[in-house]
Amino acid sequence: MPLRNLEDCFHDELKDVLSAEKQLTRSLPKLVAAAEAEALVTALEEHLAETEQQVARLEQVFELVDFAPRSKKCKAMQGLLEETADVLEEEADPTVLDAMIIAAAQKVEHYEIATYGTLCAWARLLGHNEAAGLLDQTLQEEKAADEKLTVIALELVNREAAVNV
Ligand SMILES: [Fe+2]
Repeated sequence: MPLRNLEDCFHDELKDVLSAEKQLTRSLPKLVAAAEAEALVTALEEHLAETEQQVARLEQVFELVDFAPRSKKCKAMQGLLEETADVLEEEADPTVLDAMIIAAAQKVEHYEIATYGTLCAWARLLGHNEAAGLLDQTLQEEKAADEKLTVIALELVNREAAVNV
């Protein structure tokens, strides 16, 4: 379908992010299973629950803008998650693997932050204020998840990984 205006772009990007979130709900359990540090396991588990809620919230957004919830394969998320899967295949000390998991998870969060930032701006511009509020809620969750990973990396994981010999 041709993209005629920003409303079409908004719908297209919503389909993309729905796919991205669904892909992530399938990958996060693998990260949870592979992570070692308790704080990291908890953070990933919490973000999995949050991601499931974000899928439901996106479906609400589709409803609000009167557009059937459909997803369109997000190739960027697919690529990020393929890289993440490769990380899990590495033969690594558990602490080092944790550091790699955090790096991979933060790439995913930054991608999502960029996407939701755009979606919020477009929703506001298009007058979809309620939808913009929901999208902003998810944007804040993604930022918080990213910050939590930074704290875990700084306070715990990277320091231990650095002293491994
Ligand atoms: Fe998300």
